[in-house]
Amino acid sequence: MILEPMQPDEAQELETYTNATSAAVEEELDQLLPAVDDSEEAQLFEAMRYSIFAGGKRIRPLLIMATNEALGGNKKRALRVAAAMECLHTYSLIHDDLPCMDDDELRRGKPTCHVQFDEATAVLAGDALLTLAFEILSDKETHADPTVRIRLVALFAQAAGGQGMLGGQMMDILAESRDTDTEYDQGALARLQRKKTGALFSACCEASMILNGGTNEEYHRFTSYAKNIGLAFQMVDDILDVVGDKKKMGKEVGKDDNAGKVTFAQLMGVEGASRQAEFLCGQAADYLRPFGEKAHTLRLLAKFVVTRTH
Ligand code: IPE
Ligand code: IPE
Ligand code: MG
Ligand code: MG
Ligand code: MG
Repeated sequence: MILEPMQPDEAQELETYTNATSAAVEEELDQLLPAVDDSEEAQLFEAMRYSIFAGGKRIRPLLIMATNEALGGNKKRALRVAAAMECLHTYSLIHDDLPCMDDDELRRGKPTCHVQFDEATAVLAGDALLTLAFEILSDKETHADPTVRIRLVALFAQAAGGQGMLGGQMMDILAESRDTDTEYDQGALARLQRKKTGALFSACCEASMILNGGTNEEYHRFTSYAKNIGLAFQMVDDILDVVGDKKKMGKEVGKDDNAGKVTFAQLMGVEGASRQAEFLCGQAADYLRPFGEKAHTLRLLAKFVVTRTH
């Protein structure tokens, strides 16, 4: 399926949705993150809040909330899961930016956590956000049924762990020292990116399915949607690293080439990678066809993934 271009009224509608939903998630995060007090460990809490509230598109929380709405779910529970996911994602960014990883100094338009504080504080702030995600999920406020809570914990652990995001990060780092002309083809790179970025996207839709239940068919459709837009999202991230604007992105550009990263932009060219991302988002939208209007926001998010400039 060809994804229709985002119309101006749709862009406006998505912006209104994004602003309201991000504000609700941020309110939840504000309640859940430890307050900066006069305790000895307050620097850790300050660093956690610094990175979480620096900005960010909040696309993973939006995916959780929009899937939850498509399924007619309870908003409060989904907001807690969305907050937990944003903690996990922000941890991954703090560690991704460390000198031993991508060595970046700008994130979400501000100095990276280790630049603003120091490396030890950044490692601890990342760790504390990751563990906070699990604390939130395991709290009975998230869901009264312990079976639901343990399924959410297992889902996040699998998506973030060695078989998921961290495995992808390992592959990403090892790929820097490979001969990408001969050792990396599009299939191998798709596998890397599905883990590195796709795993969390997929977990967002799965988490809402766990909260609300659903048939196997629904489960398959929502997770297939998420897997496709997750891969497309990382492709566009790689494209924007080549053609994006540092100010809009709030992070340095041109880093991947300098670091010798393997990306779709490098393997297929910017044009080829853009077409592939569009194809994937069209396919994602196709999976949602049976849900009609209920999946409207998810369809807009698929369009956002390919049209974004930040
Ligand atoms: C950046 O994620 C890392 C990738 C997986 C590409 P985002 O582009 O979602 O970063 P924020 O949350 O908006 O800062
Ligand atoms: C980061 O990918 C993915 C994760 C944090 C898991 P990138 O290294 O491409 O993300 P940016 O470009 O620094 O945001
Ligand atoms: Mg990286
Ligand atoms: Mg990086
Ligand atoms: Mg990148």
